[in-house]
Amino acid sequence: MYMCLCKGITESEVRAAGRAGIVMANQLKTKFDLKCHGCCGRCAKNIHEFVEVAAQGAATSCPR
Ligand code: FES
Repeated sequence: MYMCLCKGITESEVRAAGRAGIVMANQLKTKFDLKCHGCCGRCAKNIHEFVEVAAQGAATSCPR
């Protein structure tokens, strides 16, 4: 499922970012460039959705 239509960011990409330790709102905004010129801004406004999905990814990451 797409989480950001402007940039074509999928839920699995955000989950993978979480597995890589990127779980804070500002980290996610930077990684996915959610403040870019030409974006609608919906994602930056609803960044908590990204944080939730990234946290799910972090919770399922393997410690190895
Ligand atoms: S849908 Fe993500 S910035 Fe527009």
